Amino acid sequence: MSIEGFGYESTAEQVTEGLDLSGKRYVVTGCNSGLGQETTRVLALRGAEIVGLARTEDKAAKALADAGAKGTPLVCELSDPKSAQACAKAIVELGQPIDAFILNAGIMALPEPRTTLGYDLQFLTNHIGHFILATQALDALAEDGRVVVLSSGAHRMAPETGIEFDNLSGERDYKPWKMYGQSKLANLLFARKLAVQFEGTKKTANSVHPGVIRTNLTRHMDNAEELLGSLTLKTVPQGAATQCLVATHPGVAEVSGAYFADCQVAETLHAHAEDDELAAKLWTRSEEIVKTLLS
Ligand SMILES: NC(=O)c1ccc[n+]([C@@H]2O[C@H](COP(=O)([O-])OP(=O)(O)OC[C@H]3O[C@@H](n4cnc5c(N)ncnc54)[C@H](OP(=O)(O)O)[C@@H]3O)[C@@H](O)[C@H]2O)c1
Repeated sequence: MSIEGFGYESTAEQVTEGLDLSGKRYVVTGCNSGLGQETTRVLALRGAEIVGLARTEDKAAKALADAGAKGTPLVCELSDPKSAQACAKAIVELGQPIDAFILNAGIMALPEPRTTLGYDLQFLTNHIGHFILATQALDALAEDGRVVVLSSGAHRMAPETGIEFDNLSGERDYKPWKMYGQSKLANLLFARKLAVQFEGTKKTANSVHPGVIRTNLTRHMDNAEELLGSLTLKTVPQGAATQCLVATHPGVAEVSGAYFADCQVAETLHAHAEDDELAAKLWTRSEEIVKTLLS
């Protein structure tokens, strides 16, 4: 099965049409809103079980019920390292292989610096929370399992040097898009480094830009309508297509370490987005951060 023919306008239903996902199990972070909600609905429609993660169990359970999805609702507050750790443990304890982790939850462009536990809240939530969740639940990943990390085209707005290791709190120099971009570059580099670790196995790791879609993601912005009004938007079903394709489609089973947009492998947009040395440095630094936060 080829992914040729899928593109900007493809929807999540279209890219999964004809796939029987019964017996498969997908972890979706941020399952209660926007792209995560649509991903949950469509994968369930194809027969998959969903391990749906949200900030409260009520939100996760409601999201699964609304999507008509069978599966398990779990709490995961990504800005709380202990919550991400407990969720990873709960996933492993399900005792069932996970066919893909879809690391989808995120926050964007907080207007003012929000330093939490010593880190910019976007870096903490978007990258560190997912780093804890995925690395600590990796034992549950199926032999041919996939890790799909939501990055963004906004990774191009990351600092010129890539990751400002001396300003991870955002306190030295905070700019909303720079810090969001940095967290999304971190998502991309995380997938890239994970792919290196998966070499020699059937497991894959990739990152995704979903497009620009009107969702709750702009909740922190004062000028959201102005910005969205000036851009060409995808619908939510189109926005969820790329992550659904990368998580499930047989045509990409052997693609790893790539960045996808519009349902195809795409060019990255930052000088350091394919910098394996930086990806390795970020991994080591993330491990150190996690060790401190969880001690
Ligand atoms: N929409 C776009 O145009 C666009 C473009 C590029 C990339 N992306 C990426 O796509 C992903 C999905 O975004 P979306 O557009 O679907 O946004 P959304 O509708 O705002 O959904 C974001 C999800 O993340 C969850 N979340 C936020 N903070 C969290 C935390 N601390 N712990 C756990 N969950 C948390 C939210 O939960 P609550 O509802 O409880 O807050 C929500 O379920 C994000 O990673 C985003 O960066 C989106």
